[in-house]
Amino acid sequence: MSTDQTRLVDPAEDSKPSRRGVLVTVGRVVLASAALPALAAGGHAASSGVLTGPPKGESTEKQTEATAEKVVDALEGAYGLHPGQRRNHTKGVGVRGVFVGNPETSAYSRSALFSGETLEVVARFSVAGGNPDASDAEKSSRGLAVEFRLPNGGLHHMTMLHTPMFFAAVPQTFLDKFVALAIDPATGKSDPAKFKAFLATHHDNASQTAFLTSNNPPPSYANCAYFGIHTFRFLNKRGNVTLVKFRFVPQDGEKQLTNAELASAPQDFLEKALMERFAKGPARWDLVLTIGEPGDEQNNPTILWPKGRKEVKAGTLTLVSATPSAEAGSYKINYDPLVMADGIAATDDPVLLFRSPSYGTSYTRRLQNL
Ligand code: HEM
Repeated sequence: MSTDQTRLVDPAEDSKPSRRGVLVTVGRVVLASAALPALAAGGHAASSGVLTGPPKGESTEKQTEATAEKVVDALEGAYGLHPGQRRNHTKGVGVRGVFVGNPETSAYSRSALFSGETLEVVARFSVAGGNPDASDAEKSSRGLAVEFRLPNGGLHHMTMLHTPMFFAAVPQTFLDKFVALAIDPATGKSDPAKFKAFLATHHDNASQTAFLTSNNPPPSYANCAYFGIHTFRFLNKRGNVTLVKFRFVPQDGEKQLTNAELASAPQDFLEKALMERFAKGPARWDLVLTIGEPGDEQNNPTILWPKGRKEVKAGTLTLVSATPSAEAGSYKINYDPLVMADGIAATDDPVLLFRSPSYGTSYTRRLQNL
């Protein structure tokens, strides 16, 4: 991502008072709207060239802005206000367990995650979207957020989805999606024409939409792989940088509801299935790293790397117990994906960088019981 068309603005520059008066805008990403028609024309699978700036002759003044405040407002507009709750991935369940990293991973990362010691984790499974009563059979993303507690008191977060790719190459697509889903107070529903127009103009969402259409949801959180989606920079003791994508692969195997099961699925089954799974014993996932090669996409989370990249087993996540959302230790955790201990760092992916202020804004509102 070149810095001439996407730049992170110093929060100090942003003197606008917040919508709620008590909040500060914690970040702002400015994007050239001309990038979106380019995505529409080039399709989501085009090279990172789609993000290189406005087409010739287009003025950079024609810009739209996605801010953390705007996306959280848009989530509230699409799902209603649920005081004290997450504005996205609202429905969920807290879980606890441990992680043991594979020390051979130190060839790629000096992170304490890979010391081989047993680390406590506090995690949360969730259903995407801001509806606390979402159906567990919804063809949307399932989430897994993990906080690793390191021996030196440090923390590391991995906040993932069960889809290998995301639906937005730039934060503006995220904002536009939830603006398009806004509930009209007159009808109590969103306007399908607006969402159709969003789909027609934002081709970066096509890849994830295709995945969710062709893969039925899982019968249990324990039968899902969870993907970090973004590219991360792994740094070893010598300071060498390796581009890495990661995923957690369930030892219970990946399963999907059949069409018949989907049609008759109750509203809520994921939490019950998880409790029943833990009653039989711990559930485990292998952490698998995919090692990038020169030229692999770093900054567009809608694009997958070519098949055949080297893979490394970097550790095992063992989850042992579940607690309903509001009582769980995860309830008051902000699973900001930029909370990373030494040895793993962010790329310049504008979506990854934008998540941090957005989660902060949602967190600030929910902790104030707004
Ligand atoms: C522009 C991009 C994104 C925005 C604006 C966004 C926004 C949010 C917000 C506001 C929350 C609620 C945070 C809280 O109250 O604690 C959230 C939760 C979550 N998001 Fe995102 N998100 C984005 C991208 C992603 C991506 C790419 C992933 C996966 C790789 C992801 C996975 C999750 C998960 C799993 C949760 C639930 C975390 C929990 O259980 O606390 N999000 N997101």
